Amino acid sequence: MGYKEVYERWKADPEGFWMEQAQAIEWNRAPTQALTKAGDDLYEWFADGLTNTCWNAVDRHVEAGRGGQVAIIHDSPITGTLHKITYAELRNRVARLAGALRAKGIEKGDRVIIYMPMVPEALEAMLACARLGAIHSVVFGGFASNELAVRIDDATPKAIIAASCGVEPGRVVHYKPLLDGAIDRSTHKPDFCVIFQREQEVARLEEGRDVDWHGFQYGVEPADCVPVEGNHPAYILYTSGTTGAPKGVIRHTGGHLVALNWSMKNIYNVDPGDVFWAASDVGWVVGHSYICYAPLIHGNTTIVFEGKPVGTPDAGTFWRVIADHKVRSFFTAPTAFRAVKRDDPKGEFVKKYDISSLNAIYLAGERADPDTIEWAMKVSGKPVYDHWWQTETGWTIAGYPVGIEKLPVKIGSPAVPMPGYDVHILDEAGHPVKAGELGAIAIKLPLPPGALPNLWSAEERFRKSYLSHFPGYYETGDAGMMDEDGYLYIMARTDDVINVAGHRLSTGGMEEVLAGHPDVAECAVIGVSDQLKGQLPMGFVCLTSGVTRTHEDIVKECVTLVREKIGPVAAFKLCAVVDRLPKTRSGKILRATMVKIADSEQFKPPATIDDPAILDEIKTALQRLGYANS
Ligand code: COA
Ligand code: AMP
Repeated sequence: MGYKEVYERWKADPEGFWMEQAQAIEWNRAPTQALTKAGDDLYEWFADGLTNTCWNAVDRHVEAGRGGQVAIIHDSPITGTLHKITYAELRNRVARLAGALRAKGIEKGDRVIIYMPMVPEALEAMLACARLGAIHSVVFGGFASNELAVRIDDATPKAIIAASCGVEPGRVVHYKPLLDGAIDRSTHKPDFCVIFQREQEVARLEEGRDVDWHGFQYGVEPADCVPVEGNHPAYILYTSGTTGAPKGVIRHTGGHLVALNWSMKNIYNVDPGDVFWAASDVGWVVGHSYICYAPLIHGNTTIVFEGKPVGTPDAGTFWRVIADHKVRSFFTAPTAFRAVKRDDPKGEFVKKYDISSLNAIYLAGERADPDTIEWAMKVSGKPVYDHWWQTETGWTIAGYPVGIEKLPVKIGSPAVPMPGYDVHILDEAGHPVKAGELGAIAIKLPLPPGALPNLWSAEERFRKSYLSHFPGYYETGDAGMMDEDGYLYIMARTDDVINVAGHRLSTGGMEEVLAGHPDVAECAVIGVSDQLKGQLPMGFVCLTSGVTRTHEDIVKECVTLVREKIGPVAAFKLCAVVDRLPKTRSGKILRATMVKIADSEQFKPPATIDDPAILDEIKTALQRLGYANS
């Protein structure tokens, strides 16, 4: 059966299609119904089934006699270590950790925040929560204390599991002081913290609150898997929206298991036992779905890579890892390849390694520019497939379903909708536009298994952010078009979210931080194009009257403030003091026009602009920062 037949089969009987896929999962009680209506426009999958994520990701492979297969390879060029964990070892480690968490009072439904770098213990912590039916929320290590505090207050965790430190090129990231600072700041306090001490930095434990990862497991009874309902939240993952308050995307257990398992063969074309590598971070959705859960649920070997595409030690690292571990499918972000290409344009490094095990390269997380795709195909000699999805969906909306059929590649397009996604391009009024015309990309409800059913403790925000603009549809926040063959093209966000090195960030969140500077009266943050990272944030601040301090000092403080409040991952380094911001007569800041000036694109000031002369001042400020030059 080809892609078209599979897609049509799903469309003809969506519930039957997913019920059939659900048979690949082990249930304590099989679901009798695929889809349940849980309220106006709210849906849940496999709600009356009972299952456990950790059982499906770990124990069942051991029971099936595959305990000796390597489950996790930790390849860490940044610390110079390599470590392999079999499925049997993983089961024992996770059962013990879960037992220790249970002994400290963690039960089904309790939230646990995980703040860890790319070490296998991060996956073990996620799986131990899943084993108990506890709901984890992993926070990316590149976020600052304040962001962690915001998540602590929203998720109200009973426990936090953290590492003592992370390791970035040239510096140790002191996780423990960041954690302590976050708990000081947050209103909610966890009952206890589990600290995984790394040899690069041993942290001081807080008497009465912190326990040592190894020490607290001493003598505990390992925990069995706790069956949970199909609609029990497996995890919460916070992602950027239009404001500084992140959105807590919920993932339900049943749909998550079914959809991820389906994706491994049909999209990534791997069979159980194959090595699969997603070079991302456990703090992002790609890490949740494709470093931790999907490869393990499907019985693959997954790689936890602690390093960078370049500099650890060189631009050959990706090829070295692929060769060393015989990776069959490789998934990364375009920005990572842009970094490799910059250091090794001719692809000299790839020639040093035998990458014959590799079938294909998959790109997602941001727009994949044709130059990068063509370069990657040329130097690797492998097909490169773009695919499009979001934290909210948890798996591919549109992609090349390589395990079903090798569709013709159209460079610049992440191809076609996957079964489960009825994708439409709509105009402002919600009417479908013609093939080839630009519009908002929306998905007809219900969303498929695995996609978000709601936001954590924020149903109104869920409706407002995703459901209210186009009734009956989920609004993706992306704009684009579909061609005559049904291939999608993703052009831009329709909101204030920007994508910096594959990391999703909120310009609104950065504006909130800048507005907190005592000398800043007004500000705007825009995303400008960057050759390496895709986009970079750039701030414009207007000062409170009477401020006489130098602009240089204020800019420095603004840069430091964003780094301190949001974190180094915001990569906020460009900032200028300006007298005024360009606005419409009704007072709306013209951010889109500012972006066009920065990127030296053609633009027409909107007819409603208050004072066009301000645009010249903005241009001059941009030129001083090295933009708007052509
Ligand atoms: N913990 C702490 N700090 C982190 C971090 C982490 N997990 N990840 C990144 N940072 C820091 C970096 O050290 C850097 O700090 P600096 O300002 O002191 O240099 C800052 O955050 C910005 O990081 P980044 O945007 O990643 O830039 P970079 O210059 O360090 O690296 C690339 C550039 C292209 C090599 C890198 O961005 C990359 O590998 N991108 C791939 C992204 C990816 O896989 N995304 C997942 C989505 S699919
Ligand atoms: P995140 O939730 O961090 O995965 O970011 C999701 C957003 O990244 C999407 O809404 C898009 O704006 C962008 N994105 C992800 N994948 C692609 C892609 N293949 N092409 C274009 N944009 C993408």
